[in-house]
Amino acid sequence: MDLKLCCSCISLLLLLLLPCPVGAGKLLVVPMVGSHWLSMQEVVEKLSQRGHEVVVVMPEVSWQMETSQSYRVLTHPVTQTLEELDGAFQDYVAAHLQDLPFPLNVLKLYRSSENVFRTFFGQCKDLFRSQETMKVLNGSSFDAVLTDPAFMCGATLANHLSLPFIFFMRGFPCSLHYDGPQCPSPLSYIPRLFSFNSDRMSFLQRVENALLALLELKYCDGFYGEALRFSSEVLQRDVSLMDLVSSASIWLLRFDFVFEYVRPVMPNMVFVGGINCAKKKALPKGEETRKEEGRQDEKRRDETRRDETRRDETKETRKGEKRK
Ligand SMILES: *[C@@H]1O[C@H](CO)[C@@H](O)[C@H](O)[C@H]1NC(C)=O
Repeated sequence: MDLKLCCSCISLLLLLLLPCPVGAGKLLVVPMVGSHWLSMQEVVEKLSQRGHEVVVVMPEVSWQMETSQSYRVLTHPVTQTLEELDGAFQDYVAAHLQDLPFPLNVLKLYRSSENVFRTFFGQCKDLFRSQETMKVLNGSSFDAVLTDPAFMCGATLANHLSLPFIFFMRGFPCSLHYDGPQCPSPLSYIPRLFSFNSDRMSFLQRVENALLALLELKYCDGFYGEALRFSSEVLQRDVSLMDLVSSASIWLLRFDFVFEYVRPVMPNMVFVGGINCAKKKALPKGEETRKEEGRQDEKRRDETRRDETRRDETKETRKGEKRK
């Protein structure tokens, strides 16, 4: 009996160890433009090396969407120019750099974020408008969608094509990447984004945390307003953000609990932090010298600090002696 059990264990193990084509699938990749693609591309390349058939769908106009021979790229026409995309993003960056008083700063940030989300989601609407592309996508019988859902295009498309989907991402605003998989999220020790609290909060900080959590229920609806309106139209029902994201099969999250406070997570959340460091370049020459100078400065500062501590300690001992 034991032997039999063991045999089946071994055959299962052997099955798992077989090189991939046995279980190879057909994967549709919906990336996000810009730097997000840099880390996703590594993964997509590996997937196709392992024998999966990969199709990456991309807008004709975008940033830094370098591609390689190992997968098929399907581009779709878009209405916006590169200048329009650049403009929206530059406004967004400028809003972060402006020194406005509260609450003008928050309003400004909110408006510029809304604008960036709307502008980039425009590319998704163009994808749906391209009947030719949509026909190819629907006719290709993919097994799953892998997407960076920051602008919500991949989630909308996967829901539209009724395909299971996997998220590959750094995180959503509004803690959506914890609410989507239904993680427990006690307000008393899970600090909300923008609260700048830690996982140990005073009573007032907890109150602040609770207020921010209330806002979280609403402010993403603003960021994703356009995406929500459009997906409701496409899916022909009223769609909420949770409807769009909560059925993700797996959440591949590009961070770990070195950056974030530890918190309860669900079994379909997989932490792949550091994957974005796979592609590295040597620092330019000037940078190396600057880094070395930085190290020297740090050393000097350490020494000064140590001297000061020693002096303070001496003072303390002296005080102690006087008290005696
Ligand atoms: C995909 O194609 C099938 C069969 O041609 C059709 O019935 C279905 O409505 C299409 N789905 C979408 C989302 O267009």
